Amino acid sequence: MSSKKISQKKLEKEELFDLIVQNFPVGLVILDANEIILEFNPAAERITGFKKEEVIGKNYREVMPGLPCQLKNVRKQIVEQKDKIFVHLEGTITHKDGHEIPVRYTAAPLVKGSELKGAIAIFRDVTKEKQLEQHRRVLISMFAHDLKGPLAIASGLLLRLRQGKAGNLNEKQIQYLDTIIREIGKVDKYIRSFLDIVRMEAGQISLSKELCDMHSLISELLTDIELKAKQKNITIKMEIPEDLPLVYVDKEQLQRVFFNLLDNAIKYSPDNSLIVISCKDIGESILCIVEDSGPGIAEEDLPYIFDPFYRANYSESVEGTGIGLAIVKTIIEAHGGRVWVKNKMPPEHGAIFSFTIPKAGSEKITTKPSSAKRNR
Ligand SMILES: Nc1ncnc2c1ncn2[C@@H]1O[C@H](COP(=O)(O)OP(=O)(O)OP(=O)(O)O)[C@@H](O)[C@H]1O
Ligand SMILES: [Mg+2]
Repeated sequence: MSSKKISQKKLEKEELFDLIVQNFPVGLVILDANEIILEFNPAAERITGFKKEEVIGKNYREVMPGLPCQLKNVRKQIVEQKDKIFVHLEGTITHKDGHEIPVRYTAAPLVKGSELKGAIAIFRDVTKEKQLEQHRRVLISMFAHDLKGPLAIASGLLLRLRQGKAGNLNEKQIQYLDTIIREIGKVDKYIRSFLDIVRMEAGQISLSKELCDMHSLISELLTDIELKAKQKNITIKMEIPEDLPLVYVDKEQLQRVFFNLLDNAIKYSPDNSLIVISCKDIGESILCIVEDSGPGIAEEDLPYIFDPFYRANYSESVEGTGIGLAIVKTIIEAHGGRVWVKNKMPPEHGAIFSFTIPKAGSEKITTKPSSAKRNR
């Protein structure tokens, strides 16, 4: 190929790149390995209010602190040769005029061989979607809330019937009434959990955070949960390093997370098996893992397992509403963490639920460290 042809081809490539960047229908930012903005397309200008000339050469954190590309973590992952380093997340960026814009973004590292060259992020303004979601949430929660009233009246009357306050009952009638009362109790639990999720998603449950020691947070919870485990002769083992840093969390809500994960681990594991809870310091966060030796999660269920009311087929014989994991996800995300699940590698079997919680100190702490005693 002649040198003229090569340079023409190069020019075409550059033109094509430029054309894509300029016309890309979502915000696009390209960073170098030092997080400096190299490219900022017109859609990014529209969303943020910043002109390309104002941001080129600046660190992206100055312009869009709500859009974490976390090159530091990416570097670490490259060193450790982990492949999944894309993130699909929601965040908030501040418009040039100061108002907050909710965005959904995807960020990926730009890697050549094993060298990190930079990162690319695309983001979309989701203000309208958020407003619609909010509207839908309000409608659904009003509906769920209104169901609670008639249900409470029905339960009250059924209990009176069951207590014989409206006349004596025969055995069959008692049996039917017990079943109805139990089933109504389940509907009530559904509605309450559902309302919890809706409220948390809408940010209506304010977390009352305090400095906590993971070891005591989990130990307090184990007293109850171990009774359940004993019924199946399941052993729960804790692997938490003595020097694990404190976390700044809503203790009650985080205990709810562990409760839901352990409740599942016990429910879905065979008798005489082992459940391991472990926590470790991974830099900016604490990584917590609950692993069991149950059936694990089928490949086709993995994408939906954290959705409200989703239950895998094999769970039909086990009692549940399908809402425990949705609550786990909402609580962890409300704390700024992430939760995911994978299966153990064969020949082992079992589910491994992991989540991260930002370490205390990564945010301003105003509460007095009331439960920060290290009483092990
Ligand atoms: N440790 C686990 N091992 C295997 N399957 C699991 C495990 N944890 C959850 N699952 C699957 O994920 C589904 C959703 O779990 P989730 O905790 O949300 O609901 P649930 O346990 O069915 O009901 P509940 O609302 O009472 O917690 C379960 O029905 C089950 O199919
Ligand atoms: Mg559950």
